[in-house]
Amino acid sequence: MLLVRRMGEVEAANAMAREALPGLEVGCSLPVQGAVRDEFLRYVDRCASTAATLPGVLFLQRGDGGLDRHSCHGMRARLHGFEGHALVLLHLDAPALDRRFRLLAAKLHDARRIMQERRRRTLQLQSLMREREALLVRMEADAVARVSAERERDEVLARLYRAGQDERRRLARDLHDHAGQHLVALNFGLRRLLPHLMGTTAAQNELDGLLGQAQDVGEALRRVTLALRPAALDEFGFVTALRYLVDEWSRATGIGTEMQVCGEEVPLPAEHAITLYRLSQEALTNVAKHAGRPSYASFVLLFSPGHLTLTVDDDGVGFEADEASTLSLVSQGKLGLIGMRERMSLVGGTLELESSPGQGTSVIARVHLTIDAPHHA
Ligand SMILES: Nc1ncnc2c1ncn2[C@@H]1O[C@H](COP(=O)(O)OP(=O)(O)O)[C@@H](O)[C@H]1O
Ligand SMILES: [Mg+2]
Repeated sequence: MLLVRRMGEVEAANAMAREALPGLEVGCSLPVQGAVRDEFLRYVDRCASTAATLPGVLFLQRGDGGLDRHSCHGMRARLHGFEGHALVLLHLDAPALDRRFRLLAAKLHDARRIMQERRRRTLQLQSLMREREALLVRMEADAVARVSAERERDEVLARLYRAGQDERRRLARDLHDHAGQHLVALNFGLRRLLPHLMGTTAAQNELDGLLGQAQDVGEALRRVTLALRPAALDEFGFVTALRYLVDEWSRATGIGTEMQVCGEEVPLPAEHAITLYRLSQEALTNVAKHAGRPSYASFVLLFSPGHLTLTVDDDGVGFEADEASTLSLVSQGKLGLIGMRERMSLVGGTLELESSPGQGTSVIARVHLTIDAPHHA
């Protein structure tokens, strides 16, 4: 163990140091020369400025001029009562010289082991963090996938719902346009037979039976059609559903429409609503099919106490409404207008047609409204 001054002069040396460095003299410089001396002075300088132990390497000259390499360990010395330049305490590392130095080396070794352990743990933590991050990314991707799957499912459901609605509409129209109207024609045909059977009681009874059956079939058909009523009627009520219908028709045909609701709107019994809705569908179909190039189709709903009047007008080519007798229409297989009238009479209402060639067409449907109807639409 040595005490040296900042410029490298030996201040004190213990017996072991003197033994390791023969010729060492207190007050003289350590035997360090040449380039290694500058390095040595820098090292002493660094040691002088710290209270912590600082490991280093020292090359000292032997008597024969060769260099001995010493691991060493230096720190600022604090000697009580010493005045002057800072002193540095140097431990030279020679196996026989200082046991404490070896202890220190062991501690350094421990420190290195601890550092390594810490680094290992840091790496472990880092890899855990990375795994967690990857997990988060995966979870996020899963969530995104789930949301898009849900959206897809919603779309499929909506498509199915729309398809279902289309199917109902198609079925209802088939029933109404074909079965319903043929039934009307059948009824007329059967009734036309009546006068020919006067006097033949058996045949007349038979015919009455057939008429009764036709009526039963009509009832059944009406119930089915009612069940198949457009969902829009249930969801939005008659007036809004009608507005949708008219708007949709206008978009499809490119013919302008106008819809007015006058008076105080009241809820309609389901059967009235479906009847007027189907009537409106048929009236619109007729405008598109027969009115030529009308500039508009207008709907007026007039609610008055106890009554509802629906008028559908167009300014198309019109037709000879007076000559469109029931019989001639049936014989031509034109069952739309007749069907409308039939349906209106089933809900206790009436249907009027006003038309003449070049004057456009008006379809006027009137129904009674009782205040407390059982099913509302
Ligand atoms: N808005 C309308 N404009 C002109 N003609 C119409 C109109 N509505 C009905 N018609 C006439 O009345 C006839 C009967 O109509 P309809 O009973 O619905 O039978 P269809 O539509 O099957 O011909 C039609 O063929 C047409 O000549
Ligand atoms: Mg028609």
